[in-house]
Amino acid sequence: MGKNKQFRFAENATFEQVVQPAFADLVEGRFPLRGRWNADFFHREAPLVLELGCGKGEYTLGLAALDPQHNHLGVDIKGARIWRGARTARERGIAHVGFLRTHIDHLLHCFAPGEVDAIWLTFSDPQIGKPRKRLTSPIFLERYRQVLKPGGLVHLKTDSPLLYEYTLEQVEAHKLPLLEHSADVYADLVQRVGPEEQAVLSIRTFYESMWLTEGRKIHYVRFAIG
Ligand SMILES: C[S@@+](CC[C@H](N)C(=O)[O-])C[C@H]1O[C@@H](n2cnc3c(N)ncnc32)[C@H](O)[C@@H]1O
Repeated sequence: MGKNKQFRFAENATFEQVVQPAFADLVEGRFPLRGRWNADFFHREAPLVLELGCGKGEYTLGLAALDPQHNHLGVDIKGARIWRGARTARERGIAHVGFLRTHIDHLLHCFAPGEVDAIWLTFSDPQIGKPRKRLTSPIFLERYRQVLKPGGLVHLKTDSPLLYEYTLEQVEAHKLPLLEHSADVYADLVQRVGPEEQAVLSIRTFYESMWLTEGRKIHYVRFAIG
């Protein structure tokens, strides 16, 4: 492991913004924050918003800045990426942001039924040729249904036409309320929504910035579930 990674992992262990549950504790039901995120981690009651596959946490930090009334938690398996978001949150003194280092497959071990208000999926791997692994496949939709409150929201932002179309198909197949969708966020969607939503939709992650430089279109879907 490189020195930079070692340094970041060591710092993560000292950051109160970072939670890194052991696999055995999760699967054996010994994760004390499950059902207690607001009470024991954020220390305040507020709607809980997750970003799954948050990378360096830009969306989580961006949402937290625009929406201080919610608690925001970025989830990713890569500790060196989460470190970036956690360090920024720490430097800016943002109390309503945290990062959970775990595999997204462990969602049900990490959150109690109905504990979550909204989920963001930002530039997730489209898993070409592996539809079951896509973060909007039926198996994941069922997990989201369990952890979300009734009527909880899922937001997908992606550069992948495949993941965009696949998600729309799943929403239709599961008869979920489709609340918004656009195949071109910046040419279409941000032109027809109010300033608050414009700001939320215009948060740019590391991957989004990269894809925009390459001239790719950004797609968005919002649906309800739960
Ligand atoms: C393409 S990157 C996008 C990162 C960030 N959302 C962005 O837009 O810059 C996908 C991220 O998902 C994370 N990821 C992929 N599969 C995961 C899994 N099963 N559990 C946790 N994180 C995962 C990766 O570590 C990576 O940081």
